[in-house]
Amino acid sequence: MHTPIYEFLTRYAAQDPLRMHMPGHKGRGLGSALDAAFPLDITEIPGADSLFDAAGIIAESEANAAAWYHTAGTVYSTAGSTLCIQTMLALMQQEHRRVLAVRNVHRAFLTASVLLGLEVEWIYPTYTGGILSGTVTPAQIAAALDASPTPACVYVTSPDYLGHCADIAGIAAVCHAHQAPLLVDNAHGAHLGLFSPSRHPIALGADLCCDSAHKMLPALTGCAYLHTSQPRYAARAKAAMSLFGSTSPSYLLLASLDLCNAYLAEHGAADLARVTAALTMLRQELSDCWRFYPGEPLHLTICAAESGMEGTELAQRLEGEGIFCEYADRDFTVLLCGCPTTLQELQRLQDALRRIAALRGQPRQPEPFSLPVPEQVCSMRRAALGDYETVPVEAAEDRICAGVHVPCPPAIPIAVSGERISGACINIFRRYGIPTVDVVK
Ligand SMILES: Cc1ncc(COP(=O)(O)O)c(C=O)c1O
Repeated sequence: MHTPIYEFLTRYAAQDPLRMHMPGHKGRGLGSALDAAFPLDITEIPGADSLFDAAGIIAESEANAAAWYHTAGTVYSTAGSTLCIQTMLALMQQEHRRVLAVRNVHRAFLTASVLLGLEVEWIYPTYTGGILSGTVTPAQIAAALDASPTPACVYVTSPDYLGHCADIAGIAAVCHAHQAPLLVDNAHGAHLGLFSPSRHPIALGADLCCDSAHKMLPALTGCAYLHTSQPRYAARAKAAMSLFGSTSPSYLLLASLDLCNAYLAEHGAADLARVTAALTMLRQELSDCWRFYPGEPLHLTICAAESGMEGTELAQRLEGEGIFCEYADRDFTVLLCGCPTTLQELQRLQDALRRIAALRGQPRQPEPFSLPVPEQVCSMRRAALGDYETVPVEAAEDRICAGVHVPCPPAIPIAVSGERISGACINIFRRYGIPTVDVVK
């Protein structure tokens, strides 16, 4: 596949140009391991196009991504899915839609809601993996849409932090029967279009979705795609994104997305097939000692407590073997694979998990989890942008949650800004080892 951005950058650097333009490094590094990146780091010089008014190499590269993902439009973000989520919600606000969101959102959704002054209607999933993971049915979505007095949209996170995928096709059908757009936070699922048939949210009926290319594909951190299946959103997405995005998007990240398209088209499917086959084997071979959480294949989530070891202890023991995981809590350890993960790496992981299995103790069922519906006292925006103080969680009972600061990862809220903090919330804060909380003064 033609990679117009990368090709432009390498051609420009090869000319030995006299750079009388930004950035200030003039194409030269400081004698560090980063030096190779500097000659390719440019600004909007003639021919380089401009992200938010793209008509040249960036537009061409985005069209390559749109063709590969079969979308009506795909826009690049150099500020992750966070910027795409802000954009999706701004597009909904332009249509005066209420936002019905499944509660296990990432904090990027909360910060966007604060910036846009949104009042969110929560839909609570049946939690199956602590606060991180759960199931929501199309019937629940239909009931929430039926109860909405004004036009709405639905926001779902899938895959969630443990890799569990929602029934996007079923939810999309319900949304469309109610003329409600479906927005999917697919930050963890940029690779889902590599399956045949595609498991990508756009293929399953989503109207808008974001993919963090950097999370699951070989792309630099910060790279994300905003996809839409609707021409009306494709026409407005750039203007909406420019409300929040830097006026100096990184060309290194744009080039990384450009190269990622070529990877998807040329190698992605074969790599994914190889890794998923190896992961199926690994899960089978370790099934006598480790239980795995069901979900999309590249999230190798171990139900550690149920297998006889705290998730955090398993993560530490893996670290002792030089293996660093994505996330761990008392119940789960999340290991993220990527399409480029090699068979040798998976063998190394399998050998380590086999050795560590000998140290397991008594299996423990994860504590049952439910999030009592908190009382909403004031708007998210008022609570998050007003004065606040930080108090130990023990002193937070009955106070109003101010900040959207939640530990990252996993960055999933327990109490949301504007909600009263109950004793039940405090127990959940403790369970996740959160020592302090910001409360409205
Ligand atoms: C589910 C989910 N959504 C959104 C985000 C934000 O994505 P990004 O870091 O690409 O801005 C994350 C980041 O971890 C996430 O896990």
